[in-house]
Amino acid sequence: MRAAIHSSNEPLFHQWMPFTANRQFQEQPRLIARAEGVYYYNTRGEKLLDGSSGLYCIPLGHGRREIREAVVKQMEELDYAPPFQYGVPAAFRLSTEVAQMLPAPLNRVFFACSGSEAVDTALKMAIQYHRARGEGQRMRIIGRERGYHGVNFGGWSVGGMVANRKAFGVGLPAVSHLRHTVIKENLFQMGEGESGADLADDLERFVNLHGADTIAACIVEPIAGSTGILVPPKGYLKRLREICTKHGILLIFDEVITGFGRTGEAFAAQTFDVTPDILTMAKAITNGSIPMAAVAVKEEIQQVIFEAAPAGAIEFAHGYTYSAHPAACAAGLATLKIYREENTFSRARALAPAFLEQIGSFKGLPDVIDTRGFGLLGAVEIAPKGKPGERGFGILCKAFETGLVLRAAGDSLVLAPPFAATPDQINEMTDILRRLIKES
Ligand SMILES: Cc1ncc(COP(=O)(O)O)c(C=O)c1O
Repeated sequence: MRAAIHSSNEPLFHQWMPFTANRQFQEQPRLIARAEGVYYYNTRGEKLLDGSSGLYCIPLGHGRREIREAVVKQMEELDYAPPFQYGVPAAFRLSTEVAQMLPAPLNRVFFACSGSEAVDTALKMAIQYHRARGEGQRMRIIGRERGYHGVNFGGWSVGGMVANRKAFGVGLPAVSHLRHTVIKENLFQMGEGESGADLADDLERFVNLHGADTIAACIVEPIAGSTGILVPPKGYLKRLREICTKHGILLIFDEVITGFGRTGEAFAAQTFDVTPDILTMAKAITNGSIPMAAVAVKEEIQQVIFEAAPAGAIEFAHGYTYSAHPAACAAGLATLKIYREENTFSRARALAPAFLEQIGSFKGLPDVIDTRGFGLLGAVEIAPKGKPGERGFGILCKAFETGLVLRAAGDSLVLAPPFAATPDQINEMTDILRRLIKES
């Protein structure tokens, strides 16, 4: 085991770190200085396997030359242009390429800079769509327990991560949450669980309670990532789709993690054969290299919003200074080119069965209380020791000293390997995790 690592001379207290136990970090820093392929290097130059593709954003591995060169070239030509009332060619090209990857009829693409922004954009689109149709009373949004939709006001309000909600007051006023989909009948079932499609009927209950004509949208992650890889039960997403269609509720899939191949197809919508009305994406759109996100929407929804606005007027009073930033568009174009040319998503599909078998093989180890996974997303949940999440976090810290970066969602340890990883590298990740769980 390596000693705690901090061989940088920087003081560690000026930066207030995001989603980090800052005081603990200052005592036990985990600094990453460099990355290449599926490895990080700490400040002493020691290797660490990237077991979580960064934050689920680096399917191609780190440091792809093609992306770097495309960004440099773009920056030399055009470093910035205002995205309001002006446009850059690369953004139109990227939107066309994204549209070609999307399930029909999603074919209109709005750019943002983070998953959180994409989610808030999607919620605002949904609300404006209903107003434009003369149903402005449709303001309620349905989210789900254990969902994560980022940290902006809309996103945390519809999200269902308790710690992300309770410090911030009331949030959006008209929000309800479906129950989450982890049920005892499905424990240790890798892939989609056999039971639980009827959990989607919670949406009918909200329709009964509030009236369909008050509900604008229902937002879910096809696979909930941040609370420990909650795979939908068989038929659950289809059922949600049916209920939304029946009641005129827009279905939003938050594919910030699942987008760009993680489930074996470009989007989980395609993998599960369920098409939402609006779809958010981020992270892997640029292979994590430059912040970028997008919201895809059906043309018909865009048309309703456009036609409600007077000719010559701004149709959607929303956008970001860095929407469709030229450098991000260049990174996106270079990334999608690699995905196409290297058939990256089929590689994810090919790697998934052995990876999921590895994750499933944790069943029976002492204290392992569930295993879950789909595609290249896998979680091993262990019984807590001490406060909930303490044991999981302890393993994350030990893993860093041992040479592995992973995610801890409470006491669920999550692996999401880069698609560039070899089967041996993936086995090494699961071997380290198995050892650390035994020792914890
Ligand atoms: C499903 C989902 N939505 C939204 C977000 C927020 O993205 P960002 O951190 O880029 O704001 C995340 C981040 O992990 C996510 O997993």
